[in-house]
Amino acid sequence: MTDAIQRIACHAFRDQRPGTSGLRKRVLQFQTPHYLAMFVQAIFEGVGDLRGAAIALGGDGRFFNREASEIILRMAAAHGVARVVVGRGGLMSTPAVSNLIRQRGLKGGIILSASHNPGGPDGDFGIKYNVANGGPAPESVTEAIFRHSQSLAGYDILGEAAGKVDLDRTGEQRLGQLVVEVVDCVADYARLMEQLFDFERMRRWLKSNRLVFDAMHAVTGPYAEEILVKRLGAPASALLNAVPKPDFGNHHPDPNPAHAEELMARMWAADAPALGAASDGDGDRNMIVGPRMAVSPSDSLAVMLANAALIPGYSKGVSGVARSMPTSRAADVVARELGLEAFETPTGWKFFGNLLDAGRVTLCGEESYGTGSDHVREKDGLWAVLFWLNLVAVSGRSVPDLLGDHWRRFGRHYYSRHDYEAVDSDLADDIVARLRGRLGDLSGRSHDGRRIELTDDFRYVDPVDHSVSERQGLRLVFADGSRIILRLSGTGTVGATLRLYLEQFEPRTGRLDREPAEALGTLAELAEEIVGIRRISGRTRPDVVT
Ligand code: G6P
Ligand code: ZN
Repeated sequence: MTDAIQRIACHAFRDQRPGTSGLRKRVLQFQTPHYLAMFVQAIFEGVGDLRGAAIALGGDGRFFNREASEIILRMAAAHGVARVVVGRGGLMSTPAVSNLIRQRGLKGGIILSASHNPGGPDGDFGIKYNVANGGPAPESVTEAIFRHSQSLAGYDILGEAAGKVDLDRTGEQRLGQLVVEVVDCVADYARLMEQLFDFERMRRWLKSNRLVFDAMHAVTGPYAEEILVKRLGAPASALLNAVPKPDFGNHHPDPNPAHAEELMARMWAADAPALGAASDGDGDRNMIVGPRMAVSPSDSLAVMLANAALIPGYSKGVSGVARSMPTSRAADVVARELGLEAFETPTGWKFFGNLLDAGRVTLCGEESYGTGSDHVREKDGLWAVLFWLNLVAVSGRSVPDLLGDHWRRFGRHYYSRHDYEAVDSDLADDIVARLRGRLGDLSGRSHDGRRIELTDDFRYVDPVDHSVSERQGLRLVFADGSRIILRLSGTGTVGATLRLYLEQFEPRTGRLDREPAEALGTLAELAEEIVGIRRISGRTRPDVVT
């Protein structure tokens, strides 16, 4: 059989450094002959010890998912991997892959996804490696993968003569020496959800209340079908866009108010359901919406933390909470009140891994519509939806009531993120560099009566393994608790995306019911005065505001 393994000579590709969440490029780039295979070779060499191992393979179903799965399986066979557990059709949500790795004690897994980026032949594709804890590979591993990608002279692959795996047939098949096990992508995950949440209470709630879930034509369709409709009894009409499509119906499968238009329209209608939610391309992001009210992801984390005791999976108590640096500090306030540890990490779910593994935190969240817990090592879209569903069912409070209660108890962190997309990379670097150069000057200064108390380029020392991550975003923290943060996105595929994050704290006795855009108006102007994105780039407004 080994003689069917071919060595394909190829030059190294220079642009294969993984970003915030794996390697993400245009589909066209991935279709460049050998491009995907060379990166997969870099994974096998960079990770190092996959010979004889069992790993997972899943994808969000976007265009090129199946072709890529077939190449990866043939390469896994060539590299002596013993078993690959793959979702039927090559599909599996990111949190479900994380669960699969953990449940089955797999060595790691490969996830094919560009998350919330558009799909289709003109869209994006992506690939990332997850390690044995089920979480995204830490920087030491992604850097090793990158290093290998730079010095490769070719890759190893099982020739096509060895046959082909039928990805649509569950059960075990052979590809050379490799065992390919095709599994139902939903079953294990649904079981895990049943352990964490009170399905009986949710079922009862759904008898007299309506829910709408938008799967955005992405991977969570089948999960929502099984969990929300079959197991919880929601009517099929509760699901929008539940059939996964390779081009996500030509939309951005990104659950935010800007891209989940259909859901927002339903939730702003006079007869809006009590709970609305959406998830992204690979099922790890979530947005929670109440009637005429979108829940900010930062608030979502804080509300979850404050109410965790009401949810069976967390009723024994949570150990601590972690949020990414640009995420609002709403969860910190709750943690302080509850006497829990709160951690601030750089952007990227991988930074939560050590804290979760060490049992230092139970809940984690990011402003980028990501929330999760120690049940897996990825953020988890449907998990978050079930958490909120369980919460409204047991508390008897509506989404707006829960938020109102929360703000009256802890105060409110008005929050907004402004994205400037596809900015010329040099220009974007220049904008960041200029602000970085002025950080020292700005510290201690007052603008419009607001004093800047701290300025820095966020540096993170992992409390568990003490690894250091430098230059994770520029922070301006004001004496009144407001923050202006600027960083470059690590997930874009065209030019650079500048992210400006605005946060302003309103104490619990203050005005809690303002529109965020209005409440943050002055801070936004101040940010422009100080950072000057519009002035320097010539843009008139952000492309996306969330
Ligand atoms: C992905 C990562 C998140 C991150 C988000 C935004 O979803 O998994 O951890 O917060 O991208 O990252 P970016 O670098 O584009 O701001
Ligand atoms: Zn995602």
